[in-house]
Amino acid sequence: MSEQKYLVTSALPYANGALHLGHLAGAYLPADIYVRYLRLMGRDVVWVCGSDEHGAAITIRAKKEGISPQEIIDKYHTLNKETFERLGISFDYYHRTSAPLHHATAQDFFKKLIDKGGELEERSSEQYYDEEYGQFLADRYIMGECPNCANPEAYGDQCERCGATLSPMELKNPKSMMSGATPVLRETSHWYFRLDKHGDWLREWIKTGKLDGQQLHDPQTWKKQVVGQCLSWLDDGEGLQPRSITRDLDWGIPVPLPGAEGKVLYVWFDAPIGYISSTKQWALDNGKNWEDYWKNPDTQLIHFIGKDNIVFHCIIFPAMLRAYGGYNLPVNVPANQFLNFEGEKFSKSKGWGLEQHEYLEEFKDFPNAEDALRWALTRNMPESSDSDFKWDLFVDFHDKDLADNLGNFVNRVVVLSHKYFDGAIPEPTGADRDKLVEALRLAQAFSGELEAFNFKNAAQYLMELSSLGNTYLQDTSPWALWKQDPQHPGIRECLYVCQQIAALLALLADPFLPFTAPRIRRLLGQPPAVNGELKTALDTLARNESLLPPGSAIGQPEVLFPKIMDRNDKSRLEIIERQKSKLSAFMLPEQKMEQPPLETRNSKLETTEVKPDITYEDFAKLDLRTATITAAEPVKGADKLLQLNVDLGYEQRTVVSGIALHFKPEAIIGQKVVLVANLAPRKLRGVMSQGMILMAEDATGKLSFVSPPADAGNGLEVK
Ligand code: 2FM
Ligand code: ZN
Repeated sequence: MSEQKYLVTSALPYANGALHLGHLAGAYLPADIYVRYLRLMGRDVVWVCGSDEHGAAITIRAKKEGISPQEIIDKYHTLNKETFERLGISFDYYHRTSAPLHHATAQDFFKKLIDKGGELEERSSEQYYDEEYGQFLADRYIMGECPNCANPEAYGDQCERCGATLSPMELKNPKSMMSGATPVLRETSHWYFRLDKHGDWLREWIKTGKLDGQQLHDPQTWKKQVVGQCLSWLDDGEGLQPRSITRDLDWGIPVPLPGAEGKVLYVWFDAPIGYISSTKQWALDNGKNWEDYWKNPDTQLIHFIGKDNIVFHCIIFPAMLRAYGGYNLPVNVPANQFLNFEGEKFSKSKGWGLEQHEYLEEFKDFPNAEDALRWALTRNMPESSDSDFKWDLFVDFHDKDLADNLGNFVNRVVVLSHKYFDGAIPEPTGADRDKLVEALRLAQAFSGELEAFNFKNAAQYLMELSSLGNTYLQDTSPWALWKQDPQHPGIRECLYVCQQIAALLALLADPFLPFTAPRIRRLLGQPPAVNGELKTALDTLARNESLLPPGSAIGQPEVLFPKIMDRNDKSRLEIIERQKSKLSAFMLPEQKMEQPPLETRNSKLETTEVKPDITYEDFAKLDLRTATITAAEPVKGADKLLQLNVDLGYEQRTVVSGIALHFKPEAIIGQKVVLVANLAPRKLRGVMSQGMILMAEDATGKLSFVSPPADAGNGLEVK
């Protein structure tokens, strides 16, 4: 049996500029978390990326900076590669599409498609030509009004406002970006990829995951937005059209045919082939066979991208791979939505946003700055809708999750271990074994979320594990037992259990916080985790065995995440305030009023994912009612669910609610709640649930009831 392998790719960024935090949160950080997790589970994974160095993105930048395209790509390839490394983005290979190996790979791809016959075809057409500049214009060189949203600054290939994929002919009022002139149409000839021939199997494959009668992936595991975007593209009007894959340009990979001088491959033809050449170079350097990762059907190919690249990765590139033959198709493309920055789109020209290397520079005196950023971006990841990066949230996530929850727990465990056991792991009594069973369950749930690309849920489980430790420590209060009797066996058991939880936490934290995790392990007397370490740990816990054997030595305590909101040391807050004041220079006076300084701000969290507007009619469809919980019990086989009886005044209902990790059943009897009374009933774990209870959730995942006043009766309408 051949071992399951993973080939993970992240969108090749154009080497035409620095990357900002939105790029990081979109295609690089989630992929890094995912591959770090796979490595910890002992899976055979290769993660490739590299610089996209062709196309108009590069030549336009070169023109702006007044230097050659080569100088541009050298400058930004180096900057981006180094910045990724500093942020712990652990690519196995970061290649570049200007490399000879890539040119050869892309040219081979083109020739093979020509030789196969029927996949490429030469056509002449009229294209925009700039008479002042003396060149045919790349799509990106033409600007005009978007036919879709009327954005006057849409590019000939795409509208960055509405995301529509365009062709230059669709733009109203086109202008050449090279000279400002209105371009004219001129005859030229190009090669077209017969995408139209691939529509049928693509539609079937996207919808069902099946190809040639084989189930290649489960479409249920793909994000709805990804499938939706593909199907709307596939079903759009005339269906798929042949796409031109060459250009009249002097920068790019030469078309490998006699008589094609002056023509290059279109950048979107060569860029995804960059994943293949990056893998080839990695394999050459590491004595591996690249084809094991691209052609072995046991290898899972996964593309991490932003939503603007969905069609290229789910339709066009798969069609290219199949046209060539012998390649795997992606089993998932977990595309992210966009991250905004303090309420606005990132914009280099407007100076709005923050680039990755700028962050590192600005935060060079901020302790553990890399992990602090990774965490804030993870908690706010635009997984299913656009999200907004806010400095206030950065502070909240840092202080509540990393400092108060994770850092505090680890610190207390280390300090108490020294106090009571001279820094050694005590023998357990076995009395609180069930806490470790709970911990293992959380770790398994964490694992399931990561396998399904639900990074925010996984991060939430990480926090729940830490909360489990903190709550247990607090409830057991070994310091109180110590006062009764320093030999009390409960102290031993408590510290043993907490140390095991801390050891598990270090492993679950590793994909998210790769700089902090080895520090936690060092505090627990362990070397950095190796491949497979998480898998071993889960198996060890499942066998009821110790992650940290009794007797091992604990390191000296250190503070992992000193709080930002610290009365006695304002240095970290000052770094944040500096960022905010840079932004306020851009804001209108009334916007500034809305942003009180952090210290006076009510630290309650804003919701981070802003949903689109709805009409009053949409809202009026909801039947919201006051009610009282009259009974509560756990649901068998579902550790997150409680089965509740609620009194609506005019009737009694059974409701299944996902709050079991937050509330003990006996603690919520008599709780006043607001119920969505007209939610269609649905069966959860065999119990019919007739409604939904409204809860408020903060950034740490803590839930509270939305509760009417104590004297409000049941069944009142909430409007
Ligand atoms: O949109 C972009 O930034 C492209 N450079 C992404 C290329 S992804 C892949 F195809 F290489
Ligand atoms: Zn548009």
